[in-house]
Amino acid sequence: MSGCDGVCGNESVQPVEPKGLSRRALLASFGAGLAAIGFSTLGETAAYAAKTYTVCKTTDVKVGSGKVFRPKGSSGFVLVTQPRKGVWRAFDARCTHEQVPVAGAANNVVVCNQHGAQFNADTGTATAGPARRSLKKYKVAVSGTSVKVTF
Ligand code: FES
Repeated sequence: MSGCDGVCGNESVQPVEPKGLSRRALLASFGAGLAAIGFSTLGETAAYAAKTYTVCKTTDVKVGSGKVFRPKGSSGFVLVTQPRKGVWRAFDARCTHEQVPVAGAANNVVVCNQHGAQFNADTGTATAGPARRSLKKYKVAVSGTSVKVTF
């Protein structure tokens, strides 16, 4: 009698594997369950594959400003800014505070009218609360006079 009621000192406890269900089978079953409810890595990649949209014309966004667009064929809102002449930036237009679209940008400051958060129009960094996280950056390219954004 050691005087110990449970697991004591140097005793080791071996994991008990359910009979008829190996660890591999259990993991495969778990993966199938995740896939069934939409958490498949491959499925996610296919469902959210990035696409390039022509969002606006270069004349639509003046230097130091930014506008929100909803590209044709997309359900998302995109903020396009031109912080300096010929320098283009694109962001997910949803404010990182409560996910409503920001209003746009002036003097290189992106403003959310919902609660007053502000972001840097060049970097997307939050500069005034209540939002604390930066806007999500998208890849942007100019082709002729078209501003194309990939997201
Ligand atoms: S939703 Fe933008 S500041 Fe609150």
